[in-house]
Amino acid sequence: MVEALNITLKKVSKSNLQNIDFSNIIFGKVYSDHMFVADYRDGEWTDFSILPYGNMNIAPGTCGLHYGQSIFEGLKAYKNNDGEVLVFRPDDNYNRMNISAKRICMPEIPEEVFMGGLTELLKIDRDWVPGIPGTSLYLRPFMFATDEYIGLKPSMTYRFIIFTCPVGPYYSEPLKVKIEEHYVRAFPGGTGYAKVAGNYAGSLYPAKLAQEEGYHQLIWTDGVEHKYIEESGTMNLMFMINNVLITPSLEDDTILHGITRDSVLTIARDWGIKVEERRVSIDEIADAIREKTLQEAFGAGTAATIAHIRTIGYGGIDYQLPPITQDLFSKKVLETLEKYRKGLLEDKFGWIMKIS
Ligand code: COI
Repeated sequence: MVEALNITLKKVSKSNLQNIDFSNIIFGKVYSDHMFVADYRDGEWTDFSILPYGNMNIAPGTCGLHYGQSIFEGLKAYKNNDGEVLVFRPDDNYNRMNISAKRICMPEIPEEVFMGGLTELLKIDRDWVPGIPGTSLYLRPFMFATDEYIGLKPSMTYRFIIFTCPVGPYYSEPLKVKIEEHYVRAFPGGTGYAKVAGNYAGSLYPAKLAQEEGYHQLIWTDGVEHKYIEESGTMNLMFMINNVLITPSLEDDTILHGITRDSVLTIARDWGIKVEERRVSIDEIADAIREKTLQEAFGAGTAATIAHIRTIGYGGIDYQLPPITQDLFSKKVLETLEKYRKGLLEDKFGWIMKIS
C-alpha cells in the first residue's frame, strides 16, 4: 500500500527500461513499466492501484467504446540537473480534465486522485524520465465510461488511468499545413474546447485527405463561415506579424485551451512582445504572407511543443513562409520553455511541480 491514497502496488517482475534506446524513441510507441488505475462506482472514486502497464479486460458492451464518453490529457515530466523529476503545469491539466469531464457528463476527478496518482506513479517510474535534450516523459491521464449498457445515457461507472511514455519530438520536421475549407472540427456550443476523444476521431478523415495531398496537418477554420482560423487539432496556432504575436482567441468555445499556448503567451508578454488574442481571418494571414509581413507561424502543444510551419496551403496555392532561423521568436521561446521545464530558470510563474 502507498499511504496517502491507499494505493495498492503491484510492481513489474522485471523492468523493461534497459531495452529502451532513449536516443531513438518514436512518439507514443514506448510505454513505461507501470500505470495508475482508479475506478468510479456508487458515486465515489475507489480501488486505487499502480500496476504493470498492460492489457485490461473490457466487455464488448462497454458504453465508452460506443458513445465516446472518453476524455484525456497530455503533460510532460523532465529531469533537472540534480536528477530530480519536474512536472510542467500539472494543475492546469487537472483543471482542464475536469472541464472536459463536465462537458460530457463524467464525474469530476478529485485533486488528490489526479495529483496523488501522478506523483506515486512518477516516484516508481522516475528512471523512465529521459535526460537527453528534446526528450521527456509524456504523461497520459485519461478517463472512460465503463458501464456495460448500450442504451444512450451517461455511464454510472468510469475508469481513470495514467500511463507514461518516454518521447522524442512529435513532429520531426517543419510542417506543411493546409487550411481546411470544407470539413469542421468544432461548432459553437459543441465540444471543441474540451479534450474529448471524439474531437480527435472526427479530425482523422479530413487530415488523411490532406496527408494524401502531401500535407502534415490541417488548419481548422470556424464551422460557420470557414473564414477564421481556429487550431490545428494537435496544437494551437500562432502567427508573428509585424512583431505582434497573434493567436485565435478562446472566446468561442471551439478551440482547446492549450497549456503550451498559455505558456508561450506568458513568456511573450514577459519579454514585452505585443500579444493579440482575437479572431484571425484566413485573408489576414494570406495577405500577410503576400505582403511579407508574416515573419513566422507555428503550432504550440504539449506533444508538438513548438512546431514550425514552413508552408500553408490555401485555395489550391502553397504559400511558402520565411526560412526558419535561430533568431525567430518561436526558436527562442522553445529554448526558454525547455529551460523552465528543466528547472534551469527560476520558476517565476509557478509552473513546476517537483516529485520529491
Ligand atoms: C498533446 O499535445 O498532449 C495531445 O494530446 C495531442 C495529441 C494529438 C498527441
